[in-house]
Amino acid sequence: MIRTKILGLGSYVPDRVVPNSEIPYLNDRHEVCAEQQTDTSHEWIEQRSGIRERRYVPNDGSVGCSDLALIASQRALEDAGLRADEVDCIILGSLSPDIHFPGTAVFLQEKLGISGGGCACFDIRQQCSSFVYGLQMADAFVRTGAYQRVLLVGSEVHSHSLDFTTRGRDVMVLFGDGAGAVVVGPVESDDPREGVIHTQCHADGSGAWDLYMKVFEISHAPFVWYDARDREENQTMYPQMKGKKVFMNAVKRMVEATQQALHTTGLSWDDIDWFVPHQANLRINQKVAELARIPSEKVLNTIEIYGNTTAATVPLTLDYHRQQGRAKRGDLVLSTVFGSGYTWGSTVFRF
Ligand code: UT7
Repeated sequence: MIRTKILGLGSYVPDRVVPNSEIPYLNDRHEVCAEQQTDTSHEWIEQRSGIRERRYVPNDGSVGCSDLALIASQRALEDAGLRADEVDCIILGSLSPDIHFPGTAVFLQEKLGISGGGCACFDIRQQCSSFVYGLQMADAFVRTGAYQRVLLVGSEVHSHSLDFTTRGRDVMVLFGDGAGAVVVGPVESDDPREGVIHTQCHADGSGAWDLYMKVFEISHAPFVWYDARDREENQTMYPQMKGKKVFMNAVKRMVEATQQALHTTGLSWDDIDWFVPHQANLRINQKVAELARIPSEKVLNTIEIYGNTTAATVPLTLDYHRQQGRAKRGDLVLSTVFGSGYTWGSTVFRF
């Protein structure tokens, strides 16, 4: 039977490292000011989230979501030994797209040099859950024969839409820029432990207003009713989060999804090499590992050095640990995600 195999993996983070010590002093152009801009500290950020530093794109507007996605995609293609023109479908997850529409996948397609009609483009909007949602789509596309080579990429430029004042500190300190990508394709195999073994997605729209960003409300007229230059009064252009509520739901749903993945596949932690959770908060991942009885040495994190890169976290984390010589080809990976929506899910795949 046809199964879906991960053919290549790649990731990219911009060069600028932003340590916690800089965060209180950054203005909205990401310049380090002499005077403190935000009432926060390295100690608070590290204790509450585990984050020590994150990456930001240059602050001159020269790098957008599709640019980070391009480099991660090229690396995934190189890893797969494929040319860009062999990709016949792109699925791109992002909450920080280049522009409102069209979606960013078409900009990525053009930058990859494969525009012209031979490659379908999907943009998905499942935020931190994009990797599992996208992999479920890619797996279905490959197994039904709809597409042969699917590029699944998550890419985020968060640094352009954070509130660099005390008002926005709960969200601002957590997020970083980066991208991660996989290329998948068909393999003929009857081994149920080959390729993508399990994907399960969930959503609960009653949590939608617990983590959101409006920018403008196209359901209302006039669409833009505020002065976008007014940083003190206007919260519309920045993400809003009920942190504690999101935290508690993330733990609950990630534990459930992890247990569901084990139950559905009949696998145990003896079989699985790595747990790659979404990277929102180190304390979330530690709690999930404790409650789902995941051996701590099997948990892969990058939140300490990249912060939360939303749609990119899972491939970015797996690729980082491959580069560190930990995860390797043939390993069995269980990944669980949770994000805005609420959306969540799990996947098990042979890498
Ligand atoms: O990726 C999508 C999913 N996202 C998540 O899963 C994120 C989930 N939430 C979290 O990670 C945590 O809730 C946060 C890291 C956002 C906050 O941690 P917390 O332990 O839940 O803190 P809190 O919101 O209860 O705030 C505690 C205190 C408050 O002050 P008071 O009311 O006790 O005086 C906050 O105003 O910390 C204050 N605070 C800060 N202080 C310094 C909030 N943000 C900051 C900050 N620096 N950046």
